[in-house]
Amino acid sequence: MGKVLIIGAGGVGGVVTHKCAMNGDTFNDIHLASRTIEKCGIIQKQVKNKTKARITIHTLDADNVRETVSLLNHVKPDLVINVALPYQDLSIMDACLETGIDYMDTANYEPRDVAKFEYKWQWDYHDRFKQKGIMALLGSGFDPGVTNVFSAYALKHHFDVIKTIDILDCNAGSHGKAFATNFNPEINIREVTQAARHWEKGQWIETPPIIEEGAVHFTFDYPVAGKQESYLLYHEELESLVKNIKGLERIRFWMTFSDNYLTHLKVLQNVGMTGIKPVNYKGMEIVPIQFLKAVLPEPSSLGKNYTGKTVIGNVMTGVKDGKEKGLYIFNVCDHAECFREVNAQAISYTTGVPAMIGAKLILSGKWNGKGVFNMEEMDPDPFMDELNKQGLPWQMKDFPHSL
Ligand SMILES: NC(=O)c1ccc[n+]([C@@H]2O[C@H](COP(=O)([O-])OP(=O)(O)OC[C@H]3O[C@@H](n4cnc5c(N)ncnc54)[C@H](OP(=O)(O)O)[C@@H]3O)[C@@H](O)[C@H]2O)c1
Repeated sequence: MGKVLIIGAGGVGGVVTHKCAMNGDTFNDIHLASRTIEKCGIIQKQVKNKTKARITIHTLDADNVRETVSLLNHVKPDLVINVALPYQDLSIMDACLETGIDYMDTANYEPRDVAKFEYKWQWDYHDRFKQKGIMALLGSGFDPGVTNVFSAYALKHHFDVIKTIDILDCNAGSHGKAFATNFNPEINIREVTQAARHWEKGQWIETPPIIEEGAVHFTFDYPVAGKQESYLLYHEELESLVKNIKGLERIRFWMTFSDNYLTHLKVLQNVGMTGIKPVNYKGMEIVPIQFLKAVLPEPSSLGKNYTGKTVIGNVMTGVKDGKEKGLYIFNVCDHAECFREVNAQAISYTTGVPAMIGAKLILSGKWNGKGVFNMEEMDPDPFMDELNKQGLPWQMKDFPHSL
């Protein structure tokens, strides 16, 4: 039994709160804090309509370490689940350090003024978390998160060495809007407009961003979703898997995008609406991408009319008992079913459910440690079991060649 403080009342925060409430054996006291208290109130009401759990809500600006420390001292949770934005990671980690409370998130820290994705800032907390005797679990969403656990599981049970990993993220769903992003628009657009990067034979190789000439893409035949154009992207789990999966020769991340999405993004980029530097508008400083976020649909509002499925997983090749082999481990998730269960679309669901599972394993003591850890450093077995029980069942099939 444990007490959690969930920070962030967006699409993912809503799913984490619902799923914690549905796992009352583990989460007996659930607190939700966010910048806009009204959003916490909406989730509180939704959960009340669906479960017996009661959620306590708080206003919090998690950029402010003092305010966060004060809330942590007031609530005294066993664990903080950070599903606000990557900008808040370090301030929340600072507050956890000061109060001696375990920390978990789903996305690595990013500074606001540079779209830069690396674990260094958070890995630098390792010694301080260790000395304090507390744990930080980084990236407990789907990708990063489940994709890291799929890699660790394959290495534990099916390979002596994994040589290649291709993570394939397909959203074959439709939300019916002309253009929208499935998680926070600002974070999402910063991620997909950067140069692509993959790791091969000991070095990082950079290729053009998805909307530029020369972007690398290919057609993959996904289970259930069929053939979809998949684009090479940089994604944060590549960095930790390169560090933790010894013997890896190549790792890449692919994501599907429709022509409609790419056309909209290209136009927005060309007219300067994806910029992250402030511009002066009638004497006011406005950051174009933040203004764009304000006019795009909220990810949490997309669920109602979303149809179709997501298919996310890893194709891995390597050697077992002297023989070359390949495996594909993946999950198929249905947008409409997610909405029926927790009022959310599948991108929020596939992130929020693994966040709840990570929290459950920490609170039950099945996952523990002192310091800062990525998901693949933990025993994958209890997590893989929970995925099957909590709405994200996985499948595995032979895939006897690399991509
Ligand atoms: N690993 C994965 O698979 C994966 C996949 C998708 C998303 N993610 C991550 O999940 C996180 C949440 O995504 P989302 O789609 O739920 O985004 P979202 O809908 O935009 O929600 C973000 C929430 O954080 C709150 N927030 C922002 N700044 C805050 C602050 N300073 N203090 C307190 N609360 C603050 C927002 O409050 P307001 O309502 O006031 O703005 C909002 O409620 C992001 O970090 C995203 O990168 C991970």
